[in-house]
Amino acid sequence: MKLPVYLYGHPVLRKTAEPVAPGREGLKDLLDNMFETMYASEGVGLAAPQVGLSEQIVVIDADPLGENFPECAGRKFVLINPEIEILDGEPVTRAEGCLSLPGLSENVRRTEHIRLRWLDADFTPREEEISGFLARIVQHECDHLQGKVYIDHISPIRKQLIRAKLNNIVSGRIRCDYPVKYAPRRK
Ligand code: NI
Repeated sequence: MKLPVYLYGHPVLRKTAEPVAPGREGLKDLLDNMFETMYASEGVGLAAPQVGLSEQIVVIDADPLGENFPECAGRKFVLINPEIEILDGEPVTRAEGCLSLPGLSENVRRTEHIRLRWLDADFTPREEEISGFLARIVQHECDHLQGKVYIDHISPIRKQLIRAKLNNIVSGRIRCDYPVKYAPRRK
């Protein structure tokens, strides 16, 4: 079942997500629905707050980017309670987008070398060193679990330049070709 994607401006995207305990009811269905939602909107990652749930759950399928970024080929993840350690390396600037910010893409500087620890869908602990664009996707999605979105990383000047577009998203004055949930109206 496709779920609506919560858009920038919705308070759930600003909350710190709660850890998930083994035996969480309905987890398998939720993961299926999150993958379906992500594929339907042509995303490569989706975090639970983006479907309105403040829980530490992320789905990623980076395979569509494999042609440009070989490290992404065939890489599909369920991340539960993920922890990121940023490893050494020069930060790299690349364009990012987000299903919660339709129509926008901005350059973000990140170190593309991380150690990731997480629980998989069976709650088996996993650990891996990840580099390149895949490390960027993981950081972007894990930011969502901390109540952050990628434009929090851009400069105040750049943010000012896209202010009108952001306001359009917040106030629901956009069209989107996947189901979305707009921010509640401000009084
Ligand atoms: Ni995102």
